[in-house]
Amino acid sequence: MSKRKRAQLLASESEKDYADNSDSSYDETTKTRKARKKGHENDDSTLVNSISGHPVSMHIISAVGPMRIALLEWYDRVHDARKMPWRKKFDPSLDVEGRAQRAYEVWVSEIMLQQTQVATVIPYYNKWMTKFPTIKDLAASDIETVNSLWKGLGYYSRAARLLSGAQKAVKELHGRLPDNAKDMEAKIPGIGRYSAGAISSIAYNHCVPVLDGNVHRLLSRFTALHAQPKSKRTLDILWAGAESFITQSKRPGDINQALIELGSTVCTVRDPACSDCPLRPRCKAYQRTQPTASHTGIVEADIEELCLVCDPIPSDENNGSVTIYPMKAERKKPREELDSVNVIEWRSRDSGDRWFLLVRRPQGGLLAGLHEFPTLPNLSGAKVSASNMAKIPYTFLQELLMHPPSPNDNVSLKTLSNSDSSNKVPKVIQVTSAGDVVHIFSHIKKTYRVQWVLLEGDELPRLRTVVSLDQGGRENGDCGKKNLKGKKQKRSEVSEVELNTIPQTSSARWVPLTQVEDANIGTGVLKVWKLVEKLWTTTRN
Ligand code: ADE
Repeated sequence: MSKRKRAQLLASESEKDYADNSDSSYDETTKTRKARKKGHENDDSTLVNSISGHPVSMHIISAVGPMRIALLEWYDRVHDARKMPWRKKFDPSLDVEGRAQRAYEVWVSEIMLQQTQVATVIPYYNKWMTKFPTIKDLAASDIETVNSLWKGLGYYSRAARLLSGAQKAVKELHGRLPDNAKDMEAKIPGIGRYSAGAISSIAYNHCVPVLDGNVHRLLSRFTALHAQPKSKRTLDILWAGAESFITQSKRPGDINQALIELGSTVCTVRDPACSDCPLRPRCKAYQRTQPTASHTGIVEADIEELCLVCDPIPSDENNGSVTIYPMKAERKKPREELDSVNVIEWRSRDSGDRWFLLVRRPQGGLLAGLHEFPTLPNLSGAKVSASNMAKIPYTFLQELLMHPPSPNDNVSLKTLSNSDSSNKVPKVIQVTSAGDVVHIFSHIKKTYRVQWVLLEGDELPRLRTVVSLDQGGRENGDCGKKNLKGKKQKRSEVSEVELNTIPQTSSARWVPLTQVEDANIGTGVLKVWKLVEKLWTTTRN
């Protein structure tokens, strides 16, 4: 496509959005909207990057030859500095199996590296590869084992997706990941455009680009792009930029890794080391933020070549550093949710042995497959009275125990008096409020309202066999509740009806006191546990 045509394309797309302010895909911040308006009306020269200030061609990367050479020279010097065990030189002599094995290794590393730092990932990767040296070893495993290896790394759905991806590869794809990016993305759960590009370029040396957060930042600066970071137009420009770096390269995997490495170690979010950057000679952000730079907005370009993608840089953000790029995304406030967490302890009347009830979360969604204390999610907005809270554990006990105590013990004993199971019914000794634990997920601010429920009895209460109604339950991190018929319930105020409605659990088990911390529990549940432990130093136990 000619430069002019590309410029026209970008300009016309932009015009569409500017013409239609109701377009929700263009969610500019109030601050930038004001700044843009001001820039138009007053031609305010404090705006570094006025809307009509630069040609759109500034964001198009071309003639990368010298930059590629500089980038690879830099990468060859630094590639081993952080001792990443998955980073190996591409070996063209590998056969199909050898390359597929490399693809497996890169896949595991890339999934672990999502939202997690290299130094944190390295020991997890090593342990994983010892346990699952091949994709077939992983496929033969189960969610319990996989989660135990993932413990502490967070975002557990990544582990579940690796497992299901491996199982799919073994079942349907001859035990190998697809050998091209398109099929990887289409056929393997959890592999998106970025991961497919990384795996196929690194393991297969295919010319497929990558754009992760590091490369996004680096290329936004390299091209001085100050536009809505997640908008389609911005991403199209940056993917095209990433592509131009690897097109017809002999070392696309190394170029991609070099861009990622440069973004994460040199072109950092807050304190970039421009003097160490091999791309500095062509970096537009660097050029435009030098004290001698001229950027008042008047350029010699045809009107149709002017950039309509960028937003102006508000003058109070112009710190004279390349960090003004990329444009800061307005952070969405995480939604707030309140859950009732019930740490249910059974204590032997004879020996004083202490056991705790853990249930396993569904295989999909938030904290997939991990264990937790029985939790009634999503009470947010409800008026949760203390008396309602105290009823919640009984609902769990009814659901989970073969012989549950009733909120009214007399009724329970009467019902069972003719059977030999009265000694099997544990007695609720006390329900003690332990306070709140706040735990932040990327998109949810959870408040766990914790209570400790002490049961006492002669023998460890038998658990009911619960038929799993997991399927389609809490998808996409939404801890949806179901009633006993498996129907999803709307969140509402806590009522008697709702108290009889608890999330279905695929399995529950009693865990001895000393083993609770070692169970597959997430960080939030560990915080809950620590809070309840504190109670025992202050309450009768
Ligand atoms: N972060 C994500 N992918 C990476 C890679 N391949 N090397 C270093 N850091 C990364």
